Parts: sequence; structure tokens; C-alpha cells
Amino acid sequence: MPPVPRTLIPALAALAQKRLLFFAGKGGVGKTTVAATVAFTLARHGKKTLLIELDDSSRASRLLGVSSTDQHATGPQPVSPSLFVLSTSGQIALEEYLQLIIPFKPLSRAIVESRAYQYFVAAAPGLKELLTMGKVWYEERKREAEQPLWDIIVIDLPATGHSLQYLRMPRAAHETFGGIISREAERIAAVLHDPEKTAVNLVTTPDELPVSETQEAYQQLTEDLRLPIGALFINRMHTAPLPAEALQTTALHGTLSARERQLIELLLRCGHNEAMETDIQTVRLQPLQPLPLPVIPIPFAVADAADETIVEQLSLALTTAAPDPSPRNRKSARQRPRTPQTSHAETSHVETSHAAPEE
Ligand SMILES: Nc1ncnc2c1ncn2[C@@H]1O[C@H](COP(=O)(O)OP(=O)(O)O)[C@@H](O)[C@H]1O
Ligand SMILES: [Mg+2]
Repeated sequence: MPPVPRTLIPALAALAQKRLLFFAGKGGVGKTTVAATVAFTLARHGKKTLLIELDDSSRASRLLGVSSTDQHATGPQPVSPSLFVLSTSGQIALEEYLQLIIPFKPLSRAIVESRAYQYFVAAAPGLKELLTMGKVWYEERKREAEQPLWDIIVIDLPATGHSLQYLRMPRAAHETFGGIISREAERIAAVLHDPEKTAVNLVTTPDELPVSETQEAYQQLTEDLRLPIGALFINRMHTAPLPAEALQTTALHGTLSARERQLIELLLRCGHNEAMETDIQTVRLQPLQPLPLPVIPIPFAVADAADETIVEQLSLALTTAAPDPSPRNRKSARQRPRTPQTSHAETSHVETSHAAPEE
């Protein structure tokens, strides 16, 4: 099948105008998967993108297919000409900073391994987070022929509680310290708090605990940290084309072999479960309805999706078929009923094409 042109859904097209996209959420909700999918999709749609993962697990690198030998390299690793990934952590940022001050490696290593250093780090809360944000800011500042090297930087934060500490530190350091630290921290905080440049996105699943953690995170981000918020990504969404009542096995008639009947009953049961899940998730997500945020649903990936294909599969949820620009088809496109998705396609601005999903 020839490639079908696709455009970004409007909520993502709006995020694509920023420079820094942070992703926060409870551990296990699929934050890394969603951040990697967003980075992959933006890169495919013409944005030179850097994905930074801050928990040093190299999970995002693996999802994007960076070979394991490259995963521990210190600089951004190429996935494609327009997509790079950088794995780092507070500990790594601190050690790198120390090496900048003490370039003699054996000495800086000895310091890092000393007990006094461990005490110092423990006694300086927020230092690692501040240096890590400094690293993000350093990438944001990188220029090539006077143009930003990265169109957009996607940052996969650690699990919620800790991630807010990363976002809090620059302003806190500016207010607490004096001199050069305060000035540097202020410059970082200025980018973070600029709604033209930054959006903090929330990732949740339709489950009770992640939903309540998302409510709390939203409150802290807006009332306490006063940071610009982007979108609410709801991951692992179930969709049922038919309601549960339409999938009762008792509705089976006709002459079927025992095997056929068994197979159909099994499929109906799966469909029934999926329909029930869909109803339950609507109830579970209700507390998030009042949040004034664009919602981006991400479907449950098909079973057994391997790491390398899950991102490609989920990326389809972030794009929609572009309207056919040829004059012959424009008329018939206008006559078609407007679904929310087609009107989405008309408003998003960044375009590319990739293979359509197999039917
Ligand atoms: N949309 C999805 N459909 C199916 N499985 C998913 C989806 N998103 C994430 N997962 C799976 O959930 C697990 C946790 O995902 P991960 O991105 O590592 O979470 P987090 O970064 O929030 O801890 C992984 O096994 C991942 O493959
Ligand atoms: Mg993760």
C-alpha cells in the first residue's frame, strides 16, 4: 500500500511549537513509552528532536532501538538524522560537572568515590536536580549556524514525586543562593516558566491511583510551581466498538461446529471484557474531567508488541490521515461528513507521510 500522508493531531501540533516538552507521571503508567512516542512522531514530522531520559535506565534508548553499546555514551546518540536520545541522571550530571572543575579524571573519580563526597551530596539536597536541569538548558542553548541545534527537546522525568523536584530546583536555587549559581539558575528558570517555550505534560492511565496522583501533580504544577502545562496523555486506553450487551454469547445461533462455537465464544468474551473495561475507565477518569487541558488518548498496544514496534504503533494515535490536497479529491472530501478527526487534520500544521496501518 502506498504511504498515506498524515498530519499531527492538533493538540500535538500545538505542543510542537514549544522548545521543551516535559513528561511527568506516576511510575509504570508508560511515561517513557509516551515520551519516546512523542519524540519519534515529532522527528518524523520534520522536527529535529532530542529525547532526554532522566532515570538512567536507558529504557527510552532501547524503545528507539539504540544499540546497547551506545546506551551509556555521555552525549546524544543518533536514532535517525532527526532524532537523538540522551540518557542521563542526577548522579551522572553531578559527576560530569565535577570533571569540568577537576579535569584530572583519577582525582575526580577518587572524590566521587570518597565518603566525604557522599555526605556532601546528601547534605546538598537538590544539587543533582539543579545540575541535571542545567544539562537540559545546555542542550536548549546549543546552536549550529546561529540556529538552535534542536527544534524540540522531550524530557522523560523520573516518577512524579521526584520529578517535581527537578522542575522546582532552578527557581528555588535562584531564590536561595547568591552569585553565579543564582544567576545561572535564574536563566534556567526563565526558560522553564516561559509558556511559549515550555510545556509540562501529564501522563496517566485510566486507573485509580495514577488518576489521583495526576490531580495532585496538576495542582502542584499550577498553584505551587506555576509552570506552563501542556496536555494530559491518557495511556493504555481501551476502546470497544460495541457495547457489552451486544456481545452476549447467548446471542449465538445457527449451525456451528463445536470448535467454531468455542472460538466465537472466546472472541465475544474478549470483546465483552474490553467493553466493560471501556465503561470502567470512563468512570475512573471522571475526576480529571474538570482539568482545563487538551486530552491525548493513547491506546493499549496490541499484545506482544515488541519494544521496537510499540513506539511506531502508538505513534499512529498522534497523527491522523491528512486531507487529500489534489483538486479532484478536494470536492469529495468536503462532501464527507466531518468527524472530529478530519477537522483535527485540517487544523494541524506540520505534515509528513508514513505507511498506513495494515488493515
Ligand atoms: N500504550 C501501551 N500499551 C501497552 N503497553 C504499554 C503501553 N504503554 C506502556 N506500556 C508498557 O507498560 C510498561 C511500563 O512502561 P514504561 O514506559 O516503562 O513506564 P514508566 O516510564 O511510566 O515507568 C512497559 O512494559 C511498556 O511496554
Ligand atoms: Mg520510565
